[in-house]
Amino acid sequence: MCGIIGFAGHEEAAPILLDGLARMEYRGYDSAGIAVRSDKWGLQAKKSRGRLETLYGLTHGGADLDGPLGIGHTRWATHGEPSDINAHPHISEGGNVALVHNGIIENYLEIKEWLLQKGVHFVSETDTEVAVQLLEYYYRECDSMLEAVARLIHRIEGSYAFGIICSDYPNALIAARKDAPLILGYGKGCNFIASDVTAIIKYTRDVTYMSDGEIAVVTAESIDVFDTDLTSVTKARSRISWDVSAAEKGGYPHFMFKEIMEQPEAIQNTVSPRIRDGRVVLDKFSMTPEEVRSISRIFIVACGSAYHVGMVCKYTWERLLRRQVEVSLGSEFRYRDPLVDENSLVVIISQSGETLDTMAALREAKRLGGKTLAVVNVVGSSIAREADHVLYTWAGPEIAVATTKAYSTQLALLDLIGLYFADLLGTVSAEEYREILEAVQTLPEKMRVCLEDVQKVQYLASRYFNHDSIFFIGRNLDYAMGLEGSLKLKEISYIHSEAYASGELKHGTISLIEPGTLVVALGTYEALFDKAMSNVVEVKARGAEVLALTTEKFRDRMEKTADCTIVVPDTHPIVQPSLGVVPLQLFAYYVALQRGCDIDKPRNLAKSVTVE
Ligand code: AGP
Repeated sequence: MCGIIGFAGHEEAAPILLDGLARMEYRGYDSAGIAVRSDKWGLQAKKSRGRLETLYGLTHGGADLDGPLGIGHTRWATHGEPSDINAHPHISEGGNVALVHNGIIENYLEIKEWLLQKGVHFVSETDTEVAVQLLEYYYRECDSMLEAVARLIHRIEGSYAFGIICSDYPNALIAARKDAPLILGYGKGCNFIASDVTAIIKYTRDVTYMSDGEIAVVTAESIDVFDTDLTSVTKARSRISWDVSAAEKGGYPHFMFKEIMEQPEAIQNTVSPRIRDGRVVLDKFSMTPEEVRSISRIFIVACGSAYHVGMVCKYTWERLLRRQVEVSLGSEFRYRDPLVDENSLVVIISQSGETLDTMAALREAKRLGGKTLAVVNVVGSSIAREADHVLYTWAGPEIAVATTKAYSTQLALLDLIGLYFADLLGTVSAEEYREILEAVQTLPEKMRVCLEDVQKVQYLASRYFNHDSIFFIGRNLDYAMGLEGSLKLKEISYIHSEAYASGELKHGTISLIEPGTLVVALGTYEALFDKAMSNVVEVKARGAEVLALTTEKFRDRMEKTADCTIVVPDTHPIVQPSLGVVPLQLFAYYVALQRGCDIDKPRNLAKSVTVE
């Protein structure tokens, strides 16, 4: 996600802003910018696509912008391609307000329409520019920037962390936050705002964490905090004891653990802007209803974990759309002369949007005349640019090589797309549409329940980390989910593991089950739970140790049979894998931890595989 820094002091702000942005580079970004307020020039802003070096060059290390008050931003694109014009800070049409933003404004299109009718002109494609134009509109109405910010945050829906400066206010910047982190830093003769402590830890360890709905007025001498009604709020201060490395991970030991814990927020950011008044709304989605209705066959092509998302999607989309869904590995699809034609939809799933095997499959699908839809996390990535249609997960940058939040946001987004298509095809009842949509909406809170149980998973990992072969067995959606659980374990703990369709075990592989073999038995798919239970009995009869995963509904039955059981909340079957995968991610993490493996950078692996 984006990085924000703000400075109010008695020395030149620009170099300090650039330094703070440089300390947040690890978060991942595609463009950067700063804005400074000076008595001589009013507001000066410089921003550019690309690395911070470009911005340093543009501003001669910050020397070109003078003034002791400013804001800075590194952008991770969500709405609008990475470009100079879409970079932050965004400047109001009148030129006297600059704003940086982290988060997603869900009702930005509605507000943009409203402002356009008021004669406001926009220059970018971003949701953020709507915020600064609306802020200027309110400022002109009430002539108080603090009041204008309060009106702004009452009007917008979604998540935001704002940093704001105005040429009429020489000594103060304003900050506000909801569902996106923002801290206040107390310096010596200066004060700061920042998305995370890494940006300012060089200057101060004395911070306050803003709460949702709060507004802060920051000057060199003071920090005043207000609630949305502009009532003053007293805030406690904290002392940051982390070193820089710990600060980058938000205090978590590894990026992978941080990203596992970020999943509820990442899913919230990905789905909530696409659900309005009980309907799936895919703003700016370029596939027409006629194109959707012309689909006779669906291919899903991806690699690794993204392929496992496709495997889950096969089961859920075939049930929802009553269309054949064929899932292929990118590296296989391109060489097998696939039966793609003009009535085929080829869904390309990729976190990075740069995986060469997947990109090659995309090009092959287009060569054969298929319609291509990319589901990607990185805005403006190669696959996103070459596909006919693209929908983004808004998981934010994923640093750990082993994907977690990108996988789960892909699942959630594909559930929404499946519902959207099924509604157009008339293959889902109104009742099931509502039930599934509600299940997607409640996914973040149910996922938080799964994440409260890390100690139990940590204990189980301490029991089993010495196994040298672990089986994941399941049926239907449990089998598809097991593929991901097995890969997570393999890629970070280096333990050999296989995911197997439970019903297939007896056709050969069960010969490998011997006393002490660890079998992770997945029993969250309600319709086949009895079958899952029989497979648990089957492997136990051969001496296996069974670690079971099931839902609250089946807790008692499973606990009577399995050696140990992890339980997740119940939800709609279509959405259930999104919950079941969380303990599997945690199990892999803690096993790898016990084995002393490099969690975030496993051997032989790269975050994006751009070779064949
Ligand atoms: C997942 O944990 C792996 N790092 C890997 O399998 C990854 O999913 C695969 O390389 C595809 O990457 P992409 O989603 O960026 O295309």
